[in-house]
Amino acid sequence: MAFRNWRESVIYQLYPQSFKDGNGDGWGDLQGILDQVDYLIELGTDMIWLGPIYDSPLVDNGYDIRDYQRIHPRYGTMDDFQQLLKRLHENDIRLIMDLVINHTSDEHTWFQESRSSKDNPYREYYIWRSPGTDGGEPNNWRSFLGESAWTYDEQTGEYYLHLFDRKQPDLNWEHPPLREELYKMIRWWLDQGIDGFRLDAINMISKHPDLPDAPEDAAHPLGQQFYKNGPRIHEFLHELHEQTFAHYDHIVTLGEAPSVTMEEVLKYTLPERGEMDMVLAMDMMRIGKDPKHPWRSRDWSINELKESVLKWHEGVHGRGAYAVYLSTHDHPRMLPDIIGAGDHYDQAAKLVATFLHTIPGIPLIYQGEELGLPNTIYSSIDDYRDAGTLGYYEHAVADGESETEVLEHIHKRSRDGARAPIPWNCALPQAGFSEVEPWIPVTPEEQLHGRCVNDQMTHPDSVLYYYRQLIQLRRMNPIVIYGSLTMLLPQHEQIMAYVREWEEERWLVMLNFADEDVSIDWSAEQIDDTQQMIKLHGNYPKFSRPTNREDEHDLSELKELRPYEALIYRMQSVSL
Ligand code: GLC
Repeated sequence: MAFRNWRESVIYQLYPQSFKDGNGDGWGDLQGILDQVDYLIELGTDMIWLGPIYDSPLVDNGYDIRDYQRIHPRYGTMDDFQQLLKRLHENDIRLIMDLVINHTSDEHTWFQESRSSKDNPYREYYIWRSPGTDGGEPNNWRSFLGESAWTYDEQTGEYYLHLFDRKQPDLNWEHPPLREELYKMIRWWLDQGIDGFRLDAINMISKHPDLPDAPEDAAHPLGQQFYKNGPRIHEFLHELHEQTFAHYDHIVTLGEAPSVTMEEVLKYTLPERGEMDMVLAMDMMRIGKDPKHPWRSRDWSINELKESVLKWHEGVHGRGAYAVYLSTHDHPRMLPDIIGAGDHYDQAAKLVATFLHTIPGIPLIYQGEELGLPNTIYSSIDDYRDAGTLGYYEHAVADGESETEVLEHIHKRSRDGARAPIPWNCALPQAGFSEVEPWIPVTPEEQLHGRCVNDQMTHPDSVLYYYRQLIQLRRMNPIVIYGSLTMLLPQHEQIMAYVREWEEERWLVMLNFADEDVSIDWSAEQIDDTQQMIKLHGNYPKFSRPTNREDEHDLSELKELRPYEALIYRMQSVSL
């Protein structure tokens, strides 16, 4: 194994139940992934983040773990897992697993013990409180799903805390024996030979000891300021690191840490602090979302994207580390927010890809993005599976909102939009994902427009090929990884343009986020426009439309970009 320096990696998020069904039960599994390892190798990714495959009642698709050290039979066996790990390692690809240690399933034996009596040794593994003075919940915190974050347990007459579903009770990190057990389990996985973890909801593990009420008008979910980046978080993460990761080579950790300042990110990721390697830069995911209503959309502009790029670059780049991404299993794909289903769809998919691979940060590709997949829209609520989506539907409709409107919000915002099975072959039933009906329906053909793997494999101008080229481009050019960034045309509402610089090298990236030709005026920019530019990459086929532009020309000749055009140039000499 000769792993690439993780800072130079491109991560691929694999959502196992929707990737490939290998045993014909309609559920993606480890054998299915094994069947498609060549696809991952050809793509060029060198780190796979594998979603949870542990034993679980699957209330939250595996983020509710019943037994950390067992693989759910739906995904396969430990032997399948070892085969997969071996194949990936033979190809120098790291495998990092999802580690969910903010909470477990309520079916975990620890919780079963914990709820059985107040003096059970496992009682302290979870966060129990007696009813508030009015006999109700101990405080006004709400879960991410919108309901109270507390559930009353008849057996002992107390409430337990759950920041997510009631079937996902939060672990009590204040209790040292719990931490010890977690570290033991983590070491066990590391001993299996895996290469690290994506740490789920990790900045929520330290709760304010008094669990105070939140102001009623605070942002959703109420209470978050008392557990995100909580009082003992850095102490806990350092201890976790020292007790586990620090004793193994090549381990990479990627933390899910919403609502962080750049100072916090540095604390989490500065190598000398020994906490974790990188965090997921989540704020781009807020774009297009109404902060008060997680189910509503709002208008947005590319200047917000520019701000986010600059904020992370200026605050963290070159010191701490972060992964950048445009969708995950939790965030519907951003592409549809950028484009409708217009003629230039593939151009837009490639534009978004160019953006992701040329800004500072480690790119994370969520499965299917490399195919330019849309968010799947299911016409009936019956086709949705995500508990959060179904809960929202039920409540909103019960509160008198029109079903059509509620469904419209769901079409845009449901996590299920990006959880449809990967379409391997459009000519086969179930798009080649499975031989039987999958756990969630495949994307209807009129939404897929033939964007299946088999077709894209044979078309050098497909979105898939384009992703492969970008990944290679990163591999060959350290400037993309280590270079600084200067934003040009900062106020332009359709174009994003930035210069990357590293040692003697300078690149200009130009991105037109509009579905029309857009002209550029360089006169207000502090840039010498007589310099020679050499085109390295672009998202329009070379001879698709006559332009007066050659592959080498002066910057001043770059006066217009075509709809969703993306261009990468090397600048011969630059004075900014
Ligand atoms: C994370 C996961 C999400 C899950 C939640 C609770 O945010 O990404 O899918 O629902 O944690 O584990």
